[in-house]
Amino acid sequence: MAAAPALSQAVQDFVRAPFRKMLIDGNWVAAASGKTFETVNPATGEVLANVAEGDAEDVERAVRAARRAFDDGPWATSTPTDRVKLLLRVADLIEQNAQELAQLETLDNGKSINESLNVDIPSAAGTFRYYAGWVDKAYGQTIPSDPTFFNFTLREPVGVCGQIIPWNFPLLMAAWKLGPALACGNTVVLKPAEQTPLSALRLGEILQEAGLPDGVVNIVPGFGPTAGGALVRHPLVDKIAFTGSTEVGKEIHRETSGTLKRVSLELGGKSPNIVFADANVEDAVQGALMGVFFNQGQVCCAGTRLFVEQKMHDEFADTLAKHASAMQQGPGMDPATRVGPLVSKEQLDRVTSYLEIGKKEGAKAVAGGERNTGKGLEKGYFVKPTVFTGVKNDMRIAQEEIFGPVVSVIPFKDESDAGLQGHHTLYGLAAGVWTKDVSKAHRVARAIRAGTLWVNCYNVFGASAPFGGYKQSGYGRDLGKHALDNYTETKAVWVDLRR
Ligand code: NAI
Ligand code: MG
Repeated sequence: MAAAPALSQAVQDFVRAPFRKMLIDGNWVAAASGKTFETVNPATGEVLANVAEGDAEDVERAVRAARRAFDDGPWATSTPTDRVKLLLRVADLIEQNAQELAQLETLDNGKSINESLNVDIPSAAGTFRYYAGWVDKAYGQTIPSDPTFFNFTLREPVGVCGQIIPWNFPLLMAAWKLGPALACGNTVVLKPAEQTPLSALRLGEILQEAGLPDGVVNIVPGFGPTAGGALVRHPLVDKIAFTGSTEVGKEIHRETSGTLKRVSLELGGKSPNIVFADANVEDAVQGALMGVFFNQGQVCCAGTRLFVEQKMHDEFADTLAKHASAMQQGPGMDPATRVGPLVSKEQLDRVTSYLEIGKKEGAKAVAGGERNTGKGLEKGYFVKPTVFTGVKNDMRIAQEEIFGPVVSVIPFKDESDAGLQGHHTLYGLAAGVWTKDVSKAHRVARAIRAGTLWVNCYNVFGASAPFGGYKQSGYGRDLGKHALDNYTETKAVWVDLRR
């Protein structure tokens, strides 16, 4: 095992405080109830830090602060230039604090320090920088109506946004939500996931350092049904943006029908990754590995249904299993680690239960298939990178989101079979296709109903490309110009030129 990098003093101080407070109206405060909760280091199962536990009263205060900041604070009269500078400063500060943020993220979530440092943190900075660019470019339109009128549209912020984010990319999801919301002039109450609240709280300090006025972003850590539920139900919240499970997404859809809040939902997936026999095998194997084991498979668009053309299935599955078995597993703080622990005991139980379900359904684990309790890993939430063969597309392991390092290899006959099987799922978040045949790649791209389609690559993201789901993977798009639609209302203005 390579030596873990020393924990920075800043990180030690951050986690060792008696408890981390929440950010309401520019102040770091305890919960109204005085309660705190523990966040755990999933590599060791030990308590990492204590955090103020937000509930309805705290959400009430946070929403009122966000409302005031939206209606009559300095934010309401800020110029686009002010907001551009602010978002650029946030991006710079994230980069300046990259080591500290990466260590916090890895300790809290479990992911490898290389992924934190090379993916999560720079992508978070990049997202703020990208949306800084949109602040003064989200134009309205002039409309060629009756010439006696001047008719145009204004794009206005939606108002107070409740943003509820998951634990798999804690800082990055905060950036995906906050970037466009702030660019469009909204105010926010952000609720980080209870498993991983630390990097969002550190981001709160960064937002203050960057000069964000009080109340524009309030951060209330806490649990889903309490803090999250209070935000979803609050009458002064204009919009909910949610990333998480399809189950909770449906609940939010139902709960918000009473107030007709604007809602955008980025939910689960069971994405097909389709490998044709004419693909470059080594590239496709590497792509398949990355597609499913990146972030321990805790990725909504993970390529968990790996369809392989019949004639190369056995050879491909064999190579994949060898590579999966050889992936270095350990604590995320060890720079040699490729696959870290799952985020929580709940996630460990969920994933290992699916391993049993798969075996009972008749699938064969040709790599992994069990928890990893190797030396030094006994107390952590480690599951070995698992490759199942003998999987049929209607088995539970091929249809239900597992959210762990588990891939099902499924053979297919030809292009139309690949399209039919790939399409057969409740979800529609993403898909991959591997082939040298350009026309075939484009045909499959059209056949699969999903929000993202990767050709000869997988898990590629950019702040400028929209991301979101078809079907039960949700609605609305994060990132790109498209996310501006989530955070603006359009006002049509008519001016009678005869008076
Ligand atoms: P979850 O959907 O319960 O949690 C996501 C966020 O929603 C957290 O901040 C949580 O506190 C909040 N939340 C939970 N219940 C809520 C409620 N009733 N009202 C408002 N907010 C609520 O996901 P969980 O339980 O952590 O993971 C379960 C499964 O969900 C995973 O195994 C995975 O399949 C899926 N998931 C998908 C994610 C994605 O990126 N699409 C991210 C996280 C989980
Ligand atoms: Mg939950």
